[in-house]
Amino acid sequence: MRWLLFGATCVLFTGCSSPSTVDPETGHVSGELVFQRYCVSCHGMGGQLKAGGKIQLQHTKMTDSLLRQTILYGKNNAMPAYKKMLSDEETTAVINYINTVIKK
Ligand code: HEC
Repeated sequence: MRWLLFGATCVLFTGCSSPSTVDPETGHVSGELVFQRYCVSCHGMGGQLKAGGKIQLQHTKMTDSLLRQTILYGKNNAMPAYKKMLSDEETTAVINYINTVIKK
């Protein structure tokens, strides 16, 4: 019964697109979890890795709209496109997360 309830709540509030990016404590998509799942292998948790030797995400100068563009459509065939993998909510959450790790 508990699981049934959980399932119903999940469908109502998140559509269950990718439950593992939802923070169980807040019930909202967590940018940190999105980053952990999709980006950390190349960029490192704080954006400190030099993906492809080119850029450390923590030093990006991109504005939010450019970040969104890059995440959705990729860059230079090196950065994958995430258009089909991330929901709007996940994209916004991961952009917010990137903004918390950027060192100006
Ligand atoms: C397979 C490795 C790989 C993964 C996974 C990956 N990236 Fe990248 N990303 C790259 C590479 C390589 C570049 C540099 C592309 C270039 O400049 O030619 C890059 C560049 C970027 C840039 C542009 C930064 C700048 O200032 O030019 C952003 C933003 C970015 N990645 C965000 C993300 C996010 C968010 C995720 C997860 C949703 C992610 N990346 C996952 C490899 C990856």
